[in-house]
Amino acid sequence: MSKEVVLSGIRPTGFLHLGNYFGAMRNFVRMQSEFTCYFFVANWHSLTTHPDTKELKQSVNRVIAENIACGLDPEQVALYVQSDVPEIAELYLYLNMLAYKGELEKTVTFKEKVRMQPENVNAGLLTYPVLQAADILIHRAVKVPVGKDQEQNLEMARNFAERFNHRYGEVFPLPYGFNYGGELVKILGLDGEGKMSKSENQLSTLYLADDDDTIRKKIAKSKTDQGPATEHATKPDYIENLFTLMKLVSSPDTVAKFNADYNNSSEGKCIIRYGDLKKQLAEDMIGFIRPIREKATDLQANPELLKKIIRLGAEKARASASDTLQLVKNAVGTNNA
Ligand code: TRP
Repeated sequence: MSKEVVLSGIRPTGFLHLGNYFGAMRNFVRMQSEFTCYFFVANWHSLTTHPDTKELKQSVNRVIAENIACGLDPEQVALYVQSDVPEIAELYLYLNMLAYKGELEKTVTFKEKVRMQPENVNAGLLTYPVLQAADILIHRAVKVPVGKDQEQNLEMARNFAERFNHRYGEVFPLPYGFNYGGELVKILGLDGEGKMSKSENQLSTLYLADDDDTIRKKIAKSKTDQGPATEHATKPDYIENLFTLMKLVSSPDTVAKFNADYNNSSEGKCIIRYGDLKKQLAEDMIGFIRPIREKATDLQANPELLKKIIRLGAEKARASASDTLQLVKNAVGTNNA
């Protein structure tokens, strides 16, 4: 039996951070040996919100390099750039005829973006979910590892696929969200407010490209308080978040020690020193991020190699994409060759 097809995309709209790593890339790496995987950089999608393309190419290269540095093997998966696969745009055209203006206007992400950029409510923004559906359906993918915020886009992809199948004949299997075992780890910003972000809240986000000193500074400035008032106190969000980070990058002994310190007191005073916790966390975080950063930096310094990798990804993606497009054109009746 052939393996199920997994697909996911990342928009190159800023720097990849720890939330991306633990929410996405770490899982991609695990999936690569179990499934037939397509991972891509959604540079067309970024044009809907970032029309200025001065940094686009560099961001695309960085996302590719960082994904490889995190452990994706470009030989094993198809790691490609969206704009290298014109078949996606062609499928997008067909799907646009199956997508209704009313339903597109109702999507949460569209309404949010209209609020964010009222001066640029372009048609690409409206049909963003159609392009995303084309990304997924072009490889007839069934498993799409994404966060909760993408559920509505996935539901729309299923709707477009069903409409196509119903009207023209069965071509697409229905894609669903997919992640290992229940909830994804949730990583907040270091200020305890909201999530880490590719482009906002930069002082509270740990990026895979941050140097050692930046990591130390950001963690030193992270939000804490005077310490728990009682033994076994519930941890406020921002403290829980530091422990979450520690669990991800420190040894179990270290986590156990700081947890014990948090939960106990000595002569009525709390034992935990957040300054010590931050120092330890910063060093362990550096140990985690440094090898990723160095590998990604090396790759970016080797544009020939990077080009070769991107070309290989495009070849693999186009092979699968053109097969699907043939089925689509045969079904619709637009295949005259
Ligand atoms: N919309 C996704 C995001 O903002 C990115 C994306 C584009 C994507 N195409 C996709 C994700 C296809 C999964 C599948 O994160």
